[in-house]
This record gives sequence, C-alpha cells and structure tokens, in this order.
Amino acid sequence: MNVDLYERIWMWGVAVMLALFFGSTAAAAFGHQIHPPSHVETIDPKTALSDPRFKPQGMSVDAQGHIHARVIGVMFAWLPTEMTVPADTPITFHLTSADVTHGYEIVRTNGQAMVVPGYISQFTTQFAQGEYLIACNEYCGIGHHTMAAKLHVVPRAQWQAPTTTTSMSGGAHEH
Ligand code: CUA
Repeated sequence: MNVDLYERIWMWGVAVMLALFFGSTAAAAFGHQIHPPSHVETIDPKTALSDPRFKPQGMSVDAQGHIHARVIGVMFAWLPTEMTVPADTPITFHLTSADVTHGYEIVRTNGQAMVVPGYISQFTTQFAQGEYLIACNEYCGIGHHTMAAKLHVVPRAQWQAPTTTTSMSGGAHEH
C-alpha cells in the first residue's frame, strides 16, 4: 500500500501523541497513585437521605477530633444549605447525590468534586476565613442555577463544635 509521505508523518505523529497521553495517565495512576478526588464507596441513592453515613447532615467531629462535613445533593439544593467551619483546619467532605449527578464546587477554593448518585465522593481541604459560595457546576436540570449553599469560615476560636459527635470516623472507609 502506497501511503503519501506527509500522511505517514502525521500517522506516526498521532501515534506518538496518543502513546504519550495514555502513558502519562497510566504513569500518574499506577506510578504515582494519583486518582480523582474520591474513593470507591457505594451508597443507594434512593435511601441516601436516611443513610446513617449521612447522619448527622453537616458538621460533626469524630473521636479523633477530626472534622467532617456530610452533604447530600438533591435537585436543586445542597443539604444542609449552610455550614460553618473553622478556618485553617482540615475538613473532610463526604458527598453524595439522592438523584442525578451534581458538581460540588466551593467557589474560589480547591474544594470541588463531582457528586455521582450511587457513590460517596470524599476530599479533605481547609479554608481561609471568609464567606464562600457553594455552587453546582454540573448541569442537573431546570433548577441547576439555583442550586447553591453557603460556607461560613470563622476563626478557629469562634467555632462552635457541633454537640453531636459520631462514633463512626470517616477513616474506616479511607484507602
Ligand atoms: Cu445540581 Cu447542577
């Protein structure tokens, strides 16, 4: 088969690029253990609102003193709609959806994860003092643009730990 020289150059160029792209993804995933901000923990979306792993909704402190935020996305709200957390303190977010895929984004921070029904997304981050908007950045239906919540980040000394403490530390499912 006679392939034109230029066509041959482009074919090889594309082949090399594809090898680089797939190779770098494989190197990150298997070589450096870099994975999406989640872990594989499943949940039934139909019962997510009553699932004990999301009780209490919002803030809680585990036996080790680590702060957790549990949030459920529903069309078209983040539950709870407001949370107050201490500044400069690591907070582990546990997120799930009771219906469709949503996008949890704490605007102007690195706190962001896709929220997929059937799975619990998790990430840990901390914030500077201030008021933050929590938006939905994944189109989820007619009310998508109204799906917002507030995050208040107050000085650590002012933060009132919630009275409900959970015996269940989020660490049990971490990998
Ligand atoms: Cu939820 Cu868009």
